[in-house]
Amino acid sequence: MKKVGIALLGLGTVGGGTYRILEKNHEMIKKSEGIDLEVRCVLEKNLDRCRELGVDESIVSTDIDRVVNDPEIKIVAEFFGGIEPARSFLIKCLLAGKSIVTANKEMFAKHWHELEEAARKGKAGLYFEASCVGGVPIIRTLTESMQGNNIQSIKGIINGTTNYILSKMSDTGADYAETLKEAQDLGYAEFNPSADVDGFDATYKLSILSSLAFRKKVPLDIIYREGISKVTAEDINYGKEFGLTLKLLGIAKQHEDGRIEARVHPVFIPNDEPLATVKGSFNAVHIVGDAVGDIMLYGRGAGDLPTGSAIVSDIVYAAGQKSHKLSCFKNNGLHIPNREFVRDFESEYYIRMTVKEEAGVLSDVTGVFGRSNVSLRSVIQKGDVDNNGNVTVIFETHVTTESSMEKALKKIAKLDCVLEVNSIIRIEK
Ligand code: HSE
Repeated sequence: MKKVGIALLGLGTVGGGTYRILEKNHEMIKKSEGIDLEVRCVLEKNLDRCRELGVDESIVSTDIDRVVNDPEIKIVAEFFGGIEPARSFLIKCLLAGKSIVTANKEMFAKHWHELEEAARKGKAGLYFEASCVGGVPIIRTLTESMQGNNIQSIKGIINGTTNYILSKMSDTGADYAETLKEAQDLGYAEFNPSADVDGFDATYKLSILSSLAFRKKVPLDIIYREGISKVTAEDINYGKEFGLTLKLLGIAKQHEDGRIEARVHPVFIPNDEPLATVKGSFNAVHIVGDAVGDIMLYGRGAGDLPTGSAIVSDIVYAAGQKSHKLSCFKNNGLHIPNREFVRDFESEYYIRMTVKEEAGVLSDVTGVFGRSNVSLRSVIQKGDVDNNGNVTVIFETHVTTESSMEKALKKIAKLDCVLEVNSIIRIEK
């Protein structure tokens, strides 16, 4: 029986979940995979955590060299999160010929090229199924089940915290601040929730997923990013009247000329789109391939056992490889010609404005849209005139470019009859 030594760097939520799966399913994996996985070292300062999980204290250390210098350790799974010391430790392990398994999307999205270089030198493997969409097997779906496809698009709910907040706001009518506080109390959102609510986490994942899908590195700085902190319950409710649901989506598309667009932002989608039905902290991804058509994956994007499930799957997979396959992107993510990416992307828009209730106001505003080449689908005045003589008007546009919309909104903001452009939300159909 093939025996494979493993090291776990960190024993927090996902590290702990991984240890529990490895313990519980050790015999099953031995029988079904023919591999005896042995945890030979755990790097962890917090001994209480180790005791709670029943880890033999003789294998607990705080010294990465104990991992690097143990020839029996072939696979190193990292759970530190953040860039350092994860990056330096993993590079050291790769150069020593140890394959790495990680859920660390930020480090991976920012330092993929460097890790890959170390992996090539050390003839080791890089495994990162857990970095995107937790327990949902999206990476291997893209790399091992869709090779025959030219992938056209990926759209997904790839951050559970923001999906929890938006679903809750939609279900209860509660405002953003109140719902964020609740998400923090439940442990979904961190005390500093910026990585989730400002869209950084989703951007890291979209960079990794779209790079694999389109077979070229899609660097973070070409991905448009907008978070959910300006979302209001009022807009979510108006959206419902139009048959639309608000989600934070990661969207990446390959245009016919090969150029790529990638963006993360709140977006209205029709209620009957499968992604609109994904509620709470669940994640889902919709991929379109030119041969297979539509594929939907759904599941838990976070948590100890779901993410541990992806980590263990990578460990078993890495343990079974004779040589490790690395990416063969056309670019390395460091020098990207602008012409390969679409920044002026197209979508429909929902725009809410507060305007004076006077004759000619709507014609002034619609005139600016028209002259900016933005075609309107509908204009609806909502509610009664307020005490200051103002009303709310909602515009829905047809497909237009970002630059046309920007041009129109700059001019609209200067009109005396417009008190405020309250919300601008893209619609994806
Ligand atoms: N913070 C992430 C989320 C989970 O809310 O989906 C880890 O990627």
